Amino acid sequence: MDWIDFPNAPNIGDVICELADVSEGTTKAILTDGFGFLVVRRKDHVWGFVNLCPHQFLPLTHRRSDIMSADATALLCSNHSMRFDIETGQGETCALSKVPLQVVDGEIVIGRVKRA
Ligand code: FES
Repeated sequence: MDWIDFPNAPNIGDVICELADVSEGTTKAILTDGFGFLVVRRKDHVWGFVNLCPHQFLPLTHRRSDIMSADATALLCSNHSMRFDIETGQGETCALSKVPLQVVDGEIVIGRVKRA
């Protein structure tokens, strides 16, 4: 399911948080208006995913918030430890719904927006 089809999906251009709010090499679960997603940061790159594991539709962060793998290449579902690539969201048998994110002037923004 595409992220935009989820109930309460944010709008393109919505500001989610400051880049500085997500520490390098970590993930942050964010809930806005009932829409839960994950922001993943490695160096100055960010990726976003709907925070629902396609295995059982539970939040990946259901049992713990620290779900980055030790080598910072995968998200590990806290329920059954399925691995998902942090850049694509692809798992062995299924994939996370990717939310496009962009950093604009130090803020993490939904979608691809042009700088003013
Ligand atoms: S709910 Fe995520 S792997 Fe089972």
